[in-house]
Amino acid sequence: MYKPQDYYFKKAKKEGYPARSVYKLKEIDEKFHIFKHGDLVLDLGCFPGSWLLYAEKVIQPNGKVVGVDLKPITVSTKAIFLQKDIFKLKTEEIQNLLKKNNLPDKFNVIISDLAPATSGIKDVDSDRCLELIKKAFSFIPPLLKKEGSFVCKAFESNDVHFLAKKVSPLFKFFKMFKPKATRKRSKEVFVVLSGWRDLNPRPHAPHARALPTAPQPAKKNLE
Ligand SMILES: C[S@@+](CC[C@H](N)C(=O)[O-])C[C@H]1O[C@@H](n2cnc3c(N)ncnc32)[C@H](O)[C@@H]1O
Repeated sequence: MYKPQDYYFKKAKKEGYPARSVYKLKEIDEKFHIFKHGDLVLDLGCFPGSWLLYAEKVIQPNGKVVGVDLKPITVSTKAIFLQKDIFKLKTEEIQNLLKKNNLPDKFNVIISDLAPATSGIKDVDSDRCLELIKKAFSFIPPLLKKEGSFVCKAFESNDVHFLAKKVSPLFKFFKMFKPKATRKRSKEVFVVLSGWRDLNPRPHAPHARALPTAPQPAKKNLE
């Protein structure tokens, strides 16, 4: 049965994280070695801030996190926070933010735990999730450094598998992973990609090749 205050909820509270989701990222990091000291990290959908605090801790002492969310965060952090709808977020805006803060122009790691407010209508919710995933993927070519990693929350569907498999050849490593902290009945799964090949390394070339599937709707029932 669903228990709102489960083991991970209590553990997060005790360890000073605002959400239990931190243990999903922690397990992914421990298994796939996502973060390094000194990394520059982009955290998409960072509210209330558990992933952001975890990333900030493991990239110390010289790393930096840039977080984006619709909602303002209240956790105590040195991260750069941008309150913005990612569908309205332009690459140039992030690049300008990096420049203004004397940071490199690309990220070592992009993480996305973006999830829409659910409507209860299955098709609408799964379409919204897919749009968020595609938007997160679209930041890879202009903003991810060569050899960089990308971790993205998704919900099991043929569309998600189709999209992830299209993107995977552009990375050296690809895995769809379900952490222990994900509730058993949940369809949540994480797309883990590392070793970005960056086939078009010019910094934000106007005609840079987009990810193959990013602008197109993924086809349904493709298995
Ligand atoms: C599951 S929560 C993220 C939890 C966070 N990773 C943590 O560990 O604290 C998903 C977040 O995605 C954000 N989100 C959903 N749609 C968004 C959008 N269009 N632009 C920016 N943020 C969005 C929500 O506001 C919400 O805070």
